[in-house]
Amino acid sequence: MTAPAPGSPDPGSPESTAQPPGPPAFWDAAQIRRVSHQVADLVADYLTSLPGGPAYQPSPRALVEAMRAAEWAEQGVPADAVLAEFSAHVAPYPFGNGHPGFAAWVNSPPHPLGVLAEALAAAMDPSVAGGNHAAVHVEHQVIRWFAGLLGWPAGYSGQLVSGGSAATLTALTVARHRAAARAGADDRRDGLAGLSGRLVLYAGTESHSCVTKAAEVLGLGSASIRIVPSDPDHRMRPGELERLVRADRAAGKLAVAVVATAGTTNTGAIDPLGEIASVCARHGLWLHVDGAYGAPPILLLDGYAAARDGLAQADSLAVDAHKWLYAPVDAGLVLLRDGGAARDTFSLVPAYLRTDGDEDGPGGPVWFSEYGLEQTRPFRALKVWMQLRHLGRDGYRRLIAADLAAAAELRRAVAESADFELLASGLSVVCFRHRPGRMGPASLDGHNQAVLKAVQLGGRAFLAGTTVDGVFALRACIVNPGLTAAGAPALLGDVRARAAALPRAG
Ligand SMILES: Cc1ncc(COP(=O)(O)O)c(C=O)c1O
Repeated sequence: MTAPAPGSPDPGSPESTAQPPGPPAFWDAAQIRRVSHQVADLVADYLTSLPGGPAYQPSPRALVEAMRAAEWAEQGVPADAVLAEFSAHVAPYPFGNGHPGFAAWVNSPPHPLGVLAEALAAAMDPSVAGGNHAAVHVEHQVIRWFAGLLGWPAGYSGQLVSGGSAATLTALTVARHRAAARAGADDRRDGLAGLSGRLVLYAGTESHSCVTKAAEVLGLGSASIRIVPSDPDHRMRPGELERLVRADRAAGKLAVAVVATAGTTNTGAIDPLGEIASVCARHGLWLHVDGAYGAPPILLLDGYAAARDGLAQADSLAVDAHKWLYAPVDAGLVLLRDGGAARDTFSLVPAYLRTDGDEDGPGGPVWFSEYGLEQTRPFRALKVWMQLRHLGRDGYRRLIAADLAAAAELRRAVAESADFELLASGLSVVCFRHRPGRMGPASLDGHNQAVLKAVQLGGRAFLAGTTVDGVFALRACIVNPGLTAAGAPALLGDVRARAAALPRAG
């Protein structure tokens, strides 16, 4: 296969020279089989060659410019040429995830079964808005398994959404609807009329930016967020939450929800969920837990019983399967304890979608689209379901425990190195900085920013950067079975080598 320039027509292809009249036919069985086999080989080549290549290399400038310049051609090209283009211009330039040196953001590599499930889901290509068909039942099973891990009684609802941001937006929309109803308002009909300026939301200093985005989208405004101070371990202080709630009550404010985080993105901190749940119970507040990153270990591993008890008391929970459950993007779960509240918030059934509610007829159980934002919904559940079936709870436990062990090893190596400083660490996040003896505190941020860039472009490791207690940090988040405890010190070695190779300031 030779690759044409990106996006260009292939002048030599039979399709581009002699188009038969009429619309192009979809493929026949032989063609589907032939191209499927090529794609299977590409998938296998891609996944198995990742560790041997650079952790990251940017797309070459000329390639990016050629892609920007190329227009959508009038004539198509054969699938072989499209696949060759993928191999030459797309596959070599991923963002690093899947490489054994990758520990940035919260991006896991996809389990290969999940990758293949994507093709199967797309082959079936149902809309999982609802109905009585297999994809609906698969999704209900996945949701039921997670509700079971929480020990929730019947009456909950849940669905797969694009990720933690969509899960949080969905949950907070329901919380807003409940808050409005309690104030005698109908937010679905009247928006925030009569409520504006009264609604408040509580979130920790370390809550994910998707909480702020949700507040903005929901018309609450980011100024409605009460930032609850953290303790030195970056966990929300329940006493401060109590204080803020009381003050707001006295001022006539109306609480939409408290958003706690089970595994913050920045430092991996788990908020004291049980104590926060008690504050919520005392004041009748909605508790949403953002477990996009940290819920899987809490739900599955020994050693998190207290957090698990707190999690179980949530009114809503976000868990990302595309993070620590190793599903391909996108796959987030939103779970709501009170399914009726979710349906009250979202149900809008036009005549052309109304069904008879007959579980055994084509209409099937109440549609997912009555419990969330999306109408036409993809078969996200298949990849998650296949992975859960294939790995079992035990397989997941062992994978997650290995990630935690690799993070512990990295933490140990940082703590034992005189030229590194540990800044914060929770779950599989390790925040640290390089601290050469000769360097004063004022130079450390700039130095570590330069180190981070050198590491990212160096091709052996890929970390993210962040700020911890006001200082710039190198941040590793290990949700990557390729990055083992044995390999973790090499990551630190790469950081040290890149730092040594930097031109000396002055
Ligand atoms: C704790 C937490 N919450 C929410 C999100 C947002 O999730 P998503 O990117 O899937 O929308 C992230 C993403 O990293 C996260 O770490």
